[in-house]
Amino acid sequence: MAQDLETAQAKSREVLELIGKKKLTQEERDKVIADSVRYWTDHVNAGFLKYRKSVSTDYTAVEWEDNGAVFRDINGKEFIDMLGGYGVYNVGHRHPRVLKAVTEQLERQAIHSQELIDPLRTYLAYLVSLITPGDLNYSFFSNSGTESVEGCMKMAMLATGRKHFVGTVGAFHGKTLGALGGTSKAMFREPFMPLLNWSHIPFGDIKALETTLSCADFSGDRVAAFVVEPIQGEGGINVAPPGYLAAARELCDKYGAMLVFDEVQSGMGRTGKMFYCDYEGVVPDLMALGKAFGGGVMPIGAVVGNEKVWAKYVENPFLHTTTFGGNPVACAAAIATISILLDEDLPKQAREKGDYLIDKVTQLAKQFPDVLSKIRGVGLMLGMEFTGNDTGYAVAKELFSRNILISGTYINSRVLRVEPPLVISYEQIDMFLKALEESLAAVSKLAPALK
Ligand SMILES: Cc1ncc(COP(=O)(O)O)c(C=O)c1O
Repeated sequence: MAQDLETAQAKSREVLELIGKKKLTQEERDKVIADSVRYWTDHVNAGFLKYRKSVSTDYTAVEWEDNGAVFRDINGKEFIDMLGGYGVYNVGHRHPRVLKAVTEQLERQAIHSQELIDPLRTYLAYLVSLITPGDLNYSFFSNSGTESVEGCMKMAMLATGRKHFVGTVGAFHGKTLGALGGTSKAMFREPFMPLLNWSHIPFGDIKALETTLSCADFSGDRVAAFVVEPIQGEGGINVAPPGYLAAARELCDKYGAMLVFDEVQSGMGRTGKMFYCDYEGVVPDLMALGKAFGGGVMPIGAVVGNEKVWAKYVENPFLHTTTFGGNPVACAAAIATISILLDEDLPKQAREKGDYLIDKVTQLAKQFPDVLSKIRGVGLMLGMEFTGNDTGYAVAKELFSRNILISGTYINSRVLRVEPPLVISYEQIDMFLKALEESLAAVSKLAPALK
């Protein structure tokens, strides 16, 4: 498109008017849909529209508004959100207390000067030191999960002077070039290789970790950090076997490697505790946070570490900086999120609602064994495993036609995740279960063709 400032001026005004409108006419709604599809194709990425994640094949489900555990498309059709923004909406869509904190902060100051002391960052860092286990007393705030993982990697390199990382098969840590090294799927990594020095070992296999650490020690390519998701999210909701995290802690200590827990998806109450590692009582050296940390309203992540991994960074704080990370509005959102999680005891709610779902979905798996194999996970970080690669997709499509949003996992195509906002009501869960039963019945008729 040729440069055309006049059209840009007129179009930006038009869109600002649209944003400000409380109600749209049918004509305006149709125009937004047509514009969105056209601009997405011409200026975002035509490939994405074809991607099967878009269960709305007629393109009419342009999302427009949300609250609690639901969102509505531009025509007002309401969907129950069983995907939860891939783990973003723990406190629900636009929780009023997050919105209040954000708008009040916005009315005072949006972005900090970068030069003086911005107070909300300090309050948030203190709060994070109170909700994380053990001696994780320091925080660096980022803008996303992948940046949090990058930060953990740099801190581990500084603390150990080493450059070799060990990750797990099935891991997903993000897609910036550092974190992408830890992400395990060849399809995401191959076009960008060589990445940093990463080895991948089977998840949950403590012997493999011991072998890798000891071989690296022998060869001199010593390990800076073992980076692991206590529950693999994109790998298909795989929970670390009992004792695995504790054994990894011991081995990391033995070989002088840092232990990094990526709780970007499993953190902030989703699994029934504030962090999944709280179940095992294991304290890492570094923890990566993101997704739900900003209350589903602001993007913010965190690199959280102990004194040992922070020491070199304190000597030279310019080794890792960011313009927007930890800005006052994002910090206000994260502070409100922590307050809500504790006031509403959302971790406990997640655990109870998760147990309820596991029980009901397990019964459905017995009823439709040709389609649904099992459900696994903890709290509201659950995965339904299907009998074939295409069966899960067919069920997602059926569910979408019954006004339920759900999606697969990035690395394991047999698994649909169940990660609704933790505030979801039992009535909404039952609506999901009813739609799931109908969808499984519909797909069961097609199942032989899908395998
Ligand atoms: C465990 C984990 N780590 C890191 C990331 C990357 O986060 P982001 O997409 O915010 O960069 C994700 C995203 O799905 C994740 O699930």
